[in-house]
Amino acid sequence: MGKKGKVVLAYSGGLDTSVSVLWLSEQGYDVVTMTADIGQRVIDLQAAKNKALHSGAVKAYVFDLKKTFVEKYVWPALKANGMYQGTYPLTSALSRPLIAKMLVDIAHREGASAVAHGCTGKGQDQVRIEVCATALNPMLEVLAPVRDWHFSREAEVEYAISHGIPAQATKSAPYSIDENLWGRAIECGMLEDPWNEPPEDAYQLTVNPLEAPERPDFVELTFERGIPVALNGERMDGAGLILKLNDLAGSHGVGRIDMIEDRLVGFKSREVYECPAAITLLNAHRALETITLDKRVLTTKRELEVRFAELTYEGYWFSPLKDCIDAFIDETQKYVSGTVKVRLFKGQAVVRGMKADKAIYKHDLATYSEGDAFDHAAAAGFIKIWGLPIRTWTSTFPRNNEEDLSIEA
Ligand code: ARG
Repeated sequence: MGKKGKVVLAYSGGLDTSVSVLWLSEQGYDVVTMTADIGQRVIDLQAAKNKALHSGAVKAYVFDLKKTFVEKYVWPALKANGMYQGTYPLTSALSRPLIAKMLVDIAHREGASAVAHGCTGKGQDQVRIEVCATALNPMLEVLAPVRDWHFSREAEVEYAISHGIPAQATKSAPYSIDENLWGRAIECGMLEDPWNEPPEDAYQLTVNPLEAPERPDFVELTFERGIPVALNGERMDGAGLILKLNDLAGSHGVGRIDMIEDRLVGFKSREVYECPAAITLLNAHRALETITLDKRVLTTKRELEVRFAELTYEGYWFSPLKDCIDAFIDETQKYVSGTVKVRLFKGQAVVRGMKADKAIYKHDLATYSEGDAFDHAAAAGFIKIWGLPIRTWTSTFPRNNEEDLSIEA
């Protein structure tokens, strides 16, 4: 038993977290690792387990958490139309509370006194993991070896190799990537200059919209209580549906996002994302709400959606306000069932039709043709009362604002 007790480390299998295992062990910890598949395509759980043990972990947990991630994190975000600054579908931000939850759960099971992650000191993933872990168990210590050890890249590689951990001394990758089912984040390198258009090699889930097929595809998405349950009439589980839609929408170049994002650590950052399924589903879901939700519910929900996205982005996933907003959103979603038809074409996912058994869009009220059920006669009295405050005001404070009539007719 290490003299400092056990620590549970979020382990990706990459160089930073492998060196973290070594480093924490050298500090006197017994390191237990936690690796999760949340739909990042380049994960081999068995290989990660072997590498963790090879790096000195006393135990290595691996999980396929795609289902949990979708049901407990992605779907709540979809129901809330979660988009930070109206643009970013919270891809990475959604995965950190799940990682924190897993670390804390394993710490409880293993009797560990600390949890750890491999984030640097500049990003916001560190904030999210640590704040979420604290929210779940304030007694646990959180360690951030990569933030603390002050290795240069070269020193880190040398340290790894000298301890028998395979590491390539090649020049570092052109971007920093984070990926899960809900999309892919691409940062750093030449993207840091906002004048530079992201090069094609930044993208992996989407084709260039300019080179996308000349013919559109239409996809029908069926929602039950705010959650997508079928694609083109075929019922499928959440992860399967997202994967399929990532392929389909990605093949039309849908979901590329290029933005300047206000980071919670205070600076602006150029962020590139590709989130084909997320963008398609968010467009469809938002549209379905317009025919199923009451006007005032919709207005209030749109306001709370902004708060939901900020809380998620800022690491407040497990927080009292977020719980309250979730309760409101779940109440609204009882009514959001129906099917939306989306056209995927040249980088766009555009809603082209929608229907719902319990829609409150009523054709007989809306129509100007045969079958009109709207009470035209009632309009006169309605307008008289509706306009009463204005009539009262203007008769007390007349407006002298005649238009300029000097122009000849
Ligand atoms: N800016 C995004 C966010 O904060 C992406 C983070 C990506 N993480 C990474 N380690 N590359 O949610």
